[in-house]
Amino acid sequence: MLIKLWNGQEIPVEMHKSRMVQKISLSPAEDRLRAMGEAGYNTFLLKTKDVFMDMLTDSGVNAMSDNQFAALMNADDAYAGSMTFYEFADAVKEVMGYQHVMNVHQGRAAEHLLSKVFSKPGGAIITNYHFTTTRAHIELTGASVCLELFADEALKTKSSHPFKGNMDLDKVRAAIKKWGKDKIGYIRMEATTNLLGGQPFSMENLKAVRKVCDENGLLMVLDGSLIAENAFLIWKREKAYENKTIAQIIKEMCGLADIYYMSGRKNTCVRGGFIATNNRALFEQLEPWLPVYEGFFTYGGMSMREIGAMAVGLREMADPGMAGCSIEQIKYMVETLDGLGIPVVTPPGGLACHIDARKFLPHLPKEQYIAGALTAALYLTTGVRAMERGTISTDRAQDGTEMYADLELTRIALPRRVYSMSHINYIIDRLLWLQKNRELIKGLKFVSEPPVLRFFLGKLTDLDNWGRKLTDAFKKDFGGEW
Ligand code: F0G
Repeated sequence: MLIKLWNGQEIPVEMHKSRMVQKISLSPAEDRLRAMGEAGYNTFLLKTKDVFMDMLTDSGVNAMSDNQFAALMNADDAYAGSMTFYEFADAVKEVMGYQHVMNVHQGRAAEHLLSKVFSKPGGAIITNYHFTTTRAHIELTGASVCLELFADEALKTKSSHPFKGNMDLDKVRAAIKKWGKDKIGYIRMEATTNLLGGQPFSMENLKAVRKVCDENGLLMVLDGSLIAENAFLIWKREKAYENKTIAQIIKEMCGLADIYYMSGRKNTCVRGGFIATNNRALFEQLEPWLPVYEGFFTYGGMSMREIGAMAVGLREMADPGMAGCSIEQIKYMVETLDGLGIPVVTPPGGLACHIDARKFLPHLPKEQYIAGALTAALYLTTGVRAMERGTISTDRAQDGTEMYADLELTRIALPRRVYSMSHINYIIDRLLWLQKNRELIKGLKFVSEPPVLRFFLGKLTDLDNWGRKLTDAFKKDFGGEW
């Protein structure tokens, strides 16, 4: 919760306390340089022993609550018919209003099934913005094109638009006309657009998309992996919703979609996911594939323990202290960095603080993986593991042409209930140092490049040995180690 100090400054104050902790350590600059080299300048390939603060993602790394741990212990472990599944289904009904639900092992498994069943070969899926795994499944499983029909404002990293995740309705109507409605598999809305910097859409926009779906007989699929954050930002930014609860907003969002899916690894703090709907006929189209790819219908590839914890997590995510915990840390971090002249994505959204790497490193050419270089430099100077969300995260076209990403972002994710203000202030300080020394950062070059989702396993090298030079400058200024 944001609390106003006597001097007028607002700071995020955690509405939880730590009752179990994990030791972390900050390895010296020389060790970080070695680790980064061994990881091929790819933060995915670092080992956690070399990581001080793990801000690669907010997925599967959040702190579970005491009640979630209790649910882990109480779970009914059975291959079929587990009562824990039925308790989970009750939570889905209560929180989201859906009658039919199936678990899957994580969000991308839902994308796999949805693409397999609902994509139209040779057709298109319309979305406000793609996520990496979403596009891979649409293009690989569904043999469809992924059309991203966001409003132009979305690509302006410095903006005061409250809903940069909105769909552009004119573009949607034009696309339906061009492709023909029979060729559109579904319209997908991603609740806080991950790759646009965690930017939300408004309820007004979601309702307008619903209307277009109704007019054209199209399905609306809601990716609610970050639904609590999108609902929290609707509550804060959309006048008509200021007197609603987050629980009411979540239910209203869900009520507008034909099919809902989510990665439970973020909002519900467990490792898993699910697909839900009120339309029995749609459910029955998906159901036969569940045991083929995921597991029997009462576990869907998840452990019963995590399904039990997910039921608790679903109810907890609507609490403002939970829905807002990372949002408010992000707001503090983004606004402080913005005030200090560091180019961050504004307004602050969900998931992470995003640095605009093109503006941070204006001297780097686009061929040299700008966000990848900044993400590596951040690790070298802080021990903080962030994630490249730019051209490395965008696979090449089938003919091998490099596809330059719309945005080059270094994403510093804020897992829920994990890090504190002093952790954030430490990063802010080191980013200031990094900006002053940015000329030392050069680009990256691939040394091994997988053909699909290359950002996971690809290895790169630092051009002109800049990692060494940056580390030497850091050691000179900070007296050696940290
Ligand atoms: N949809 C969105 C909006 C996501 O952010 C993610 C995952 C997925 C789908 C896929 O879910 O990982 O459970 O298979 N985002 C993670 C991230 C990986 O780091 O942003 P998953």
